[in-house]
Amino acid sequence: MSLKGREIILGVGGGISAYKSAELLRRLQDIGLLITVVPTAASLNFVGKATWEALSGREVSSDLWENTKTVPHISLAKRANAIIIAPTTADLLSKLANGNCDDLLTNLVVAAECPKILVPAMHPEMWSNSATVSNVSTLRERGFLIIEPDEGRMTGGDYGIGRYPEISKIIEEVNNFLDINSDFQGKSILISAGGTREAIDPVRFIGNKSSGKQGVAIAEAAAKRGAKVVLVGANISTEIPLGVTYVPVTSTSEMLTALKQEFDKCDALFMAAAVADARPIDSSETKIGKDSFQNIALEKNPDILKELSQMKKPGQVLVGFSAETGDSTQVAAVNKLKNKGLNLIYTNDVSSGKIFGEDKTEGWIIGEDGSKEQFLSGTKATLANLLLDKVRDKLGYPRE
Ligand code: CTP
Repeated sequence: MSLKGREIILGVGGGISAYKSAELLRRLQDIGLLITVVPTAASLNFVGKATWEALSGREVSSDLWENTKTVPHISLAKRANAIIIAPTTADLLSKLANGNCDDLLTNLVVAAECPKILVPAMHPEMWSNSATVSNVSTLRERGFLIIEPDEGRMTGGDYGIGRYPEISKIIEEVNNFLDINSDFQGKSILISAGGTREAIDPVRFIGNKSSGKQGVAIAEAAAKRGAKVVLVGANISTEIPLGVTYVPVTSTSEMLTALKQEFDKCDALFMAAAVADARPIDSSETKIGKDSFQNIALEKNPDILKELSQMKKPGQVLVGFSAETGDSTQVAAVNKLKNKGLNLIYTNDVSSGKIFGEDKTEGWIIGEDGSKEQFLSGTKATLANLLLDKVRDKLGYPRE
């Protein structure tokens, strides 16, 4: 996919290799990216503002307090499709891992929701220092792409890992990362997660073990890949990812109403919620005493997916989930896929409560024709990206 016209912030840290970023800027422009340079004050000791302004053709600032009328850290953060920091010093890695904001660049990183790429370059002793190693691992966990430094001769004659990587390697990694990370740009994804609860009285409910982790993982992955994401969550305790619009609900009927409101606008729906199939006919306004608490008369809840699939417009993609116990897992999943008019269903065996609340999952993705497409045993984030890949292909996203 072409990255032409994408707005990139090129942050420059205060390392001797800052001069190499002048060449990086040129190569990024060659692939059609529009660059705003934000150097740290320390980096200006190595390469001055005039160089960056002349090469980028744009104004350059390091200071949060310049041009405050335009609130630069917010306006730049909103406009950016990605932030690349090259070189990233050990000091910058530490600040970013801690979320510090003491200049324009660090404020930008914390304010922006776009993909972030770091190109660390420093002396080998600093790169292998345990504080740096731990900062790098924290940043990786938060979704930053860290491009490993090269091995070679350093300024001052030392040898080791810490050199600013070859520009061609940076360009290749940036290309791959931004391509993956923007393939849902312009798409709207609707996700349900968690488990609905049906009140018996003010203190009791009928519920289930769903933690919401799978739906949240899909929301996070879709947002990172550039989608506009609405997450309708029932009783989930997991933190809501950045950039996701969250609609909290409790019961099945609330979930149905919320999803119906959003469904028309979405390109794809992931129905990861565990929906309570039935609810008490009469939910008591007051706590039911133990002597009267013997039987609960139930009525069926609506089948949300079935109702939504009847509203489906051509081109919309529906993904269901089926948690089964026993031997007929796949047969049951295929029946649900057909009954509910789905494009894909993910089915797993949850005998003895496994998978609920865990970070890992194991199961089959079943295609529209009912055939087993792929077996996965991995993290819920991996499944999220795999399902998104399949949905992207069904949405016919134009890939060059
Ligand atoms: N689902 C739904 N509305 C319901 C029940 C389920 O939209 N009332 C959705 C789930 O979110 C899931 C899929 O349908 O994506 C399959 O859910 P599952 O609970 O496995 O199937 P049911 O249709 O409830 O069938 P059964 O309980 O008989 O297995």
